[in-house]
Amino acid sequence: MRRKLFVPPIPSSEITPESVYLNRRSFMQAGVAFAASGIGMGANSAASGVTAMEYRKASKSSNGFYTDEDLTPAKDMSSYGNFYEFGTGKADPASYAHEMSVDPWTVEVVGEVGKPGKLHLEDIMSGFDLEERIYRLRCVEAWSMVVPWIGFPLSDLLARFEPTSKAKYVEFRTLHDPKQMRGTRSFTSIIDWPYREGLRMDEAMSPLTLLSVGMYGNTLPNQNGAPIRLVVPWKYGFKSIKSIVQIRLTNKKPKTSWETLAPREYGFYANVNPSVDHPRWSQASERRLPSTLFKPNRIPTLPFNGYEEQVGELYAGMDLKKYY
Ligand code: MTE
Repeated sequence: MRRKLFVPPIPSSEITPESVYLNRRSFMQAGVAFAASGIGMGANSAASGVTAMEYRKASKSSNGFYTDEDLTPAKDMSSYGNFYEFGTGKADPASYAHEMSVDPWTVEVVGEVGKPGKLHLEDIMSGFDLEERIYRLRCVEAWSMVVPWIGFPLSDLLARFEPTSKAKYVEFRTLHDPKQMRGTRSFTSIIDWPYREGLRMDEAMSPLTLLSVGMYGNTLPNQNGAPIRLVVPWKYGFKSIKSIVQIRLTNKKPKTSWETLAPREYGFYANVNPSVDHPRWSQASERRLPSTLFKPNRIPTLPFNGYEEQVGELYAGMDLKKYY
């Protein structure tokens, strides 16, 4: 059962640089009325005199948390995707992910942490300040979407477990249960399950890196990675691992699923980069969904998926053609 999620209109993590405050005041003085398109637009926003939309407009360019591009309709987002645990077809996740049970659910955090432990889904839903982020998602296959996620920064969760000074990387694992995941018991299955992904510690701590528990105002549909998934908007979509059950901090670069499978095609970094093509296709442009034969909606791809201002520094001095 999917549930509505309440998210305060102004995320607590963003209280409030002066420039934004001034902008917000000038919106109000000008008496500009914005349509409240988002979620959690109840009494709170009326009381504070500012809607999430106003706030987004005031702050969108600086922190990268929002974009005012058209959202991909929820039905397109949840009916077309990749979740190989349920098959390799684009519609397989929507057809079969309901066979996975997501409640109860626990995420264990282990490795280079002072306080290893487990979080139950209830602890996660009640223990972190949820916020809405509108991000572009760019798949390595050259399609893209714009999605209103609900979640909280990965750094908030990691801090609770007290990373040690040896923690240089974070490895993530998806649930692996062949009984519930028909794609993992198929003889054509190519991945060495469980699905694994990883980030460098500084990437994991970026304010853009989100653990998502919802989208479009509700909890996540199973096919989109319920009950909790990663969203790393400046990297190709395969880094945004779904249905996470384990987070391990390590001092060694983790072996990730796609890099292990085809290292020349899928690198560990996987930063969106229009000037480094995939060996079998160009990465210079993308199909923004919804896209049809007659209206392909092809747009240029941006370096770091448009988040260079926020994350470019993490890669200063690195040869991005070598570390793709
Ligand atoms: N996570 C798991 N566990 N298994 C997968 O097959 N596919 C990845 C990523 N996370 C995948 C996964 C890929 S290739 C993409 S593009 C995104 O999920 C797609 O996310 P979406 O289906 O929610 O749009």
